[in-house]
Amino acid sequence: MSEAPATVPSIRARKRRDGATPIVMVTAYDEPGARIVSDAGVDIVLVGDSVANTVLGYEDPLHVDIDVMAHHVAAVARAKPRCLILGDMPWMSYHLSTEDAVRNAATLIRAGAHAVKLEGGRARLPVVEAIIRAEIPVMGHLGLTPQSVLAMGGFRVQAKSVDAAEALLTAAKDLTAAGCFAFVIEGVPDVVGAAVTEAIVVPTIGIGAGPSCDGQVLVFHDLLGLGSRTPPKFVRQYAELGRIATDAVAAFAADVRGGSFPSDDESYHGSAELGEALT
Ligand code: KIV
Repeated sequence: MSEAPATVPSIRARKRRDGATPIVMVTAYDEPGARIVSDAGVDIVLVGDSVANTVLGYEDPLHVDIDVMAHHVAAVARAKPRCLILGDMPWMSYHLSTEDAVRNAATLIRAGAHAVKLEGGRARLPVVEAIIRAEIPVMGHLGLTPQSVLAMGGFRVQAKSVDAAEALLTAAKDLTAAGCFAFVIEGVPDVVGAAVTEAIVVPTIGIGAGPSCDGQVLVFHDLLGLGSRTPPKFVRQYAELGRIATDAVAAFAADVRGGSFPSDDESYHGSAELGEALT
């Protein structure tokens, strides 16, 4: 019998310094992706707003709203993955009011998520508190927060100065006190990843944050070699599925054009009478 799927309390307890195994999180946006991620035994499937750039062809995540995210969370949930399903709150779904944020978080839960993730530092304390008061677990996301791409002037490594790193540490501590059960720490120097992991009692899940975090997350399309962009430095690509898929489709095209597809075995056969009646 395989291990029970991760839950919010089991993830909250996964600190490496206490002897826990690192948390593995991978994104997925649809039923086949969720099945692959689940069969591979990951702990958390993140239905990330990276769906905007990985699947929908946008340059950044600012183009997806709560309905798009709920649509993808529901597709992932239909795979019944043996993982915690984490729904990403998209830009403008938690920026207008706490009431709006709670309603939008509930939309992702009703679509099948077990918890939600949202980006930002201390400014998010009121919405994090309100969502948690509504019994919805929240994962924070600090450092390079892709929804701040315009304010950051691009996808740039964050917390490079002492002041910025200290602000990140304070935010992590305050958001932990507010009830976040874990954090994504993205695009920060390895020493900052290590310091925030040391400073808080809940786990950190790094992406471009060095090896000291309590877990690691990668985007499905990056790790499988399905993306159209050159992957960032922190990505380790484990397969070249894009190339394999292109070769397969090209082989199909060649078989159709060469007349070898479909074969007799790949065709349905009618009775002799049917053939005669039609000639
Ligand atoms: O949307 C996403 O894929 C994410 C990861 C980069 C953590 O937030």
